[in-house]
Amino acid sequence: MTGRKYQPAVPISEMSKMIGVKESTIRKYIKENKIDRRGDNARIKLDKVRDYKAQHKYTRYPSAAIARELGMSYNTLKKYWNFKSKDEIATEFGKAAAYVQGTLEDTISSVAYDVDTILQSIHTLYMKGLDKFDADLTYGKGTFYKGKNMFLEPPKGGLFDMYPKNCPLTKDVQALSILPTDKFDLKFNSVIADPPHHIQKKGTKGDNNYNMLDSYDDICKAYRTISQIAIHTIKAHGIFVLTAPALMNADESILEKIKAYIADHFKILDIFILVDKNIPKKIAPTEEQPRSYKSHSYFLVFEKREKPWGD
Ligand SMILES: C[S@@+](CC[C@H](N)C(=O)[O-])C[C@H]1O[C@@H](n2cnc3c(N)ncnc32)[C@H](O)[C@@H]1O
Repeated sequence: MTGRKYQPAVPISEMSKMIGVKESTIRKYIKENKIDRRGDNARIKLDKVRDYKAQHKYTRYPSAAIARELGMSYNTLKKYWNFKSKDEIATEFGKAAAYVQGTLEDTISSVAYDVDTILQSIHTLYMKGLDKFDADLTYGKGTFYKGKNMFLEPPKGGLFDMYPKNCPLTKDVQALSILPTDKFDLKFNSVIADPPHHIQKKGTKGDNNYNMLDSYDDICKAYRTISQIAIHTIKAHGIFVLTAPALMNADESILEKIKAYIADHFKILDIFILVDKNIPKKIAPTEEQPRSYKSHSYFLVFEKREKPWGD
């Protein structure tokens, strides 16, 4: 059973027939991968109700007969009938499975509303018992290590930033520039990086924010440098966690750019979607970032290939 086979929008019994895998194997997969099946089931019901409304162009209040037809209780029907886009589906582990189509691959993903949940999941699923990354390439203010349930230790001796002087822990943070971008020094088993995500023109309010760069090209350049460092410092089968914005220029998503930078050296293991419930107005879509920051960002998890592709 692989992530590719799991179908979040299909009931388990149907999924079993569809993909030719036993129901018990699917249930085991759900448990091991901490997939929030309760959230998935809620979305299946919501889809059913929305499809029904759309097909029947039904605007009146729902009836008990419709509930029977859809195989759910009247209260459940009412709940999803009146579901607004701002309503949230209750999730069991605070994360839910979904497909992100047209991104790096049609990988199964987890949706969460906070960084802690995502880091915790990455830790459980991919960190092989380690309690810290070997290196953080963009330490910044160190918020990854300050969450409410934070369990991750900051990697002593492995803290880097482009601007170490701006980091509160200045003396422990080293300049990113000491890491190689063109020769190999394979010393890390696990690396995390959280490059700047937003565009803000120089001279405008907020342009001194460490999460802002001046143009889409500058953001791509930052990703290119970080990718080169990962390629040259992470050992075979090591883990690389990279955050990315839901950012596009006119015809390309930054995820495609990232793929072009690293696919020869890394394979994608997972994509986590961080949903931002409160997007500040200043980063709402603009002419320069037309589809820009769509109230979510990504935590991409990669594994270093044994050998580069094509070697
Ligand atoms: C989103 S913040 C990192 C937040 C960090 N995870 C934290 O918890 O505070 C982006 C970081 O990238 C660094 N940075 C700025 N420009 C960069 C560039 N061109 N290349 C790489 N890193 C850059 C910033 O100094 C900042 O620490």
